[in-house]
Amino acid sequence: MKSLRFGIVGSGYMAKTHSLALRNIGSFLWPNMPTIEMVRLADIDERAAEDGAMRWGWHEAATDWRSITRAEDIDVVIIITPNDSHEEIAIDAFAHGKHVFCEKPLAESAEAAARMAEAAARSGKIGVVNFVYRCWPAVELARKLIQSGDLGQLRHFQGHFFQDYANDPTLPFAWRFDLDRSGGGAIGDIGSHISDIAVSLMGPISRVTASSRTYIDHRPTANGPDSRVTVDDMTTSLVDFASGATGAVHASWAATGHKSDLNFRVIGTRGAIHFTWERNNELHVYTDTGRTDSDGFRRIVIGGVHPEAAPFWYAQGQGLGYGEAFVITLRRLIEAIRSEDTAVSPSFAEAAHINAVIAAMIRSSESGTWEAVADLMVRQEEHLKDLAI
Ligand SMILES: NC(=O)c1ccc[n+]([C@@H]2O[C@H](COP(=O)([O-])OP(=O)(O)OC[C@H]3O[C@@H](n4cnc5c(N)ncnc54)[C@H](O)[C@@H]3O)[C@@H](O)[C@H]2O)c1
Repeated sequence: MKSLRFGIVGSGYMAKTHSLALRNIGSFLWPNMPTIEMVRLADIDERAAEDGAMRWGWHEAATDWRSITRAEDIDVVIIITPNDSHEEIAIDAFAHGKHVFCEKPLAESAEAAARMAEAAARSGKIGVVNFVYRCWPAVELARKLIQSGDLGQLRHFQGHFFQDYANDPTLPFAWRFDLDRSGGGAIGDIGSHISDIAVSLMGPISRVTASSRTYIDHRPTANGPDSRVTVDDMTTSLVDFASGATGAVHASWAATGHKSDLNFRVIGTRGAIHFTWERNNELHVYTDTGRTDSDGFRRIVIGGVHPEAAPFWYAQGQGLGYGEAFVITLRRLIEAIRSEDTAVSPSFAEAAHINAVIAAMIRSSESGTWEAVADLMVRQEEHLKDLAI
């Protein structure tokens, strides 16, 4: 494959990260990448489409996403629009023979996400969901240590994703604060990332109990009265994994003092792991040495010896960041397209399980009881065997 032709739907915040990844990946992975053609960017807002195309180097701007999903000159569709629009765009793209790279959460509801996973499977095309954090070098190292048995039998996962930008009551109302459009507030937006890490390391979640709070219940709109917020600012949840391990998953975008604290611990019978995105080039690992006078956590610094970090800066400790994370997931997508590997991860099926977990947390926060997670993915049942848990 000499070249791959991309179209992108959406020209908001994510246009920057995806466009820079597309522009840079060839240089990082030269000569092992096809030539990337950035053919067309579409946004319903014409001005945003034109500005985005000009700024980020897309050849053409458009206002109708069908000019991408149905175009002869596009191979891959990137979807970076609000969550409630992903389904229609992705299903149309698969139906017209395109590969799809979709932002997370996969959809605004578990039902929509399940339909998208089914469409991806039926199409025979590659579908990847951009759960960037689970593909991060330190998180991949955690996965490798777990799979090699260094932690023993897994007992517990404790994770949170805390930010504080939405603690500001003057932050305007937007689709993220509308349950019908987003499918969940902090728990759907950043909670989907930490839930995805939990599942990708520990296997599927079978049931949850959760409690949610909305601290700022109205937000200003540009022209008119304040709009009512219909999502959570904080959700705290206990989870049971199908393996029998226990967990706790919390998410808030109003967690004072926490800037981008995606943070987890995995505890096993013989070892433990700790990671936080705020020190994202480090992984803290404890393995039982049997020497009680000198055992403790080791700090491992990420760099060129770790496979996902290798294309960037060779020396350990030079540091990768958010921008590189998008190159890492884009590489997965492109390599899956080249090898026709429809079992690539993070898949639509895996992301549909995360939507089901989020939906169960929202139900539990209303019912006050444990709620079963509706689906259990076949692939992750197999993944359990790999983890030997
Ligand atoms: N992976 C990550 O780390 C990460 C980070 C931020 C956002 N996201 C996800 O990316 C997606 C977009 O988030 P964002 O922050 O860029 O949103 P945004 O609000 O900044 O931008 C969304 C853009 O989509 C456009 N749009 C809306 N409906 C459209 C339609 N039907 N057709 C064409 N354009 C349309 C809007 O005009 C806007 O320009 C969301 O699903 C979000 O959850 C992922």
